[in-house]
Amino acid sequence: MKNKIWLAIPVALLAIQFIQPDIRNPPVVAAMDIQQVANPPADVKAVLKAACYDCHSNETRYPWYSRVAPVSWWVANHVDEGREALNFSTFGALSPGDRSEILEEAGEKVTEGEMPLASYTWMHPEARLSAAQRNLLSGWLNANGGEGAGAPENDGQGAGEAESGDADDDD
Ligand code: HEC
Repeated sequence: MKNKIWLAIPVALLAIQFIQPDIRNPPVVAAMDIQQVANPPADVKAVLKAACYDCHSNETRYPWYSRVAPVSWWVANHVDEGREALNFSTFGALSPGDRSEILEEAGEKVTEGEMPLASYTWMHPEARLSAAQRNLLSGWLNANGGEGAGAPENDGQGAGEAESGDADDDD
């Protein structure tokens, strides 16, 4: 009886290998990628690619262990959810408002140390951000998102509250 249980474990591990998630990367259109759309400086690009692109782009690199179930299910799930929340490969498809909002959000996540996910940096030392890299990335994200967003192309819509000192006597 005991022997049968010990045999059941490798058999089950083998059997679940047949349940493989679809990990083919969607096509990449360079013109839609944040690298072209927002043209970050080279050092910012490098950090984005090393620390975010595996989950937030269509250029995911899958290490061998991420193809072995049940790890493969867990990784595929992170990539799905990560792309859904923010996909740098399709950044150009977002409205200017959405771009600015998600970059601001990303700046916060990086500053707070919530992104990249700890479970990821554990296996990906190249994605562990030094304080300098964190500052560099969050600095760029904040400068291009939220309040800092699109200052040159700002049409004044919604951004004027702070400057117009006489908002309450406009008659
Ligand atoms: C291991 C995969 C993984 C990596 C690497 C990763 N993320 Fe995420 N990220 C996720 C997942 C999964 C979610 C969605 C669930 C959540 O919010 O925790 C997410 C959500 C987000 C969100 C959206 C939050 C929201 O509320 O909509 C932002 C912004 C973000 N990540 C930025 C980044 C940035 C910037 C990096 C690189 C510095 C990064 N992430 C690296 C997996 C990852």
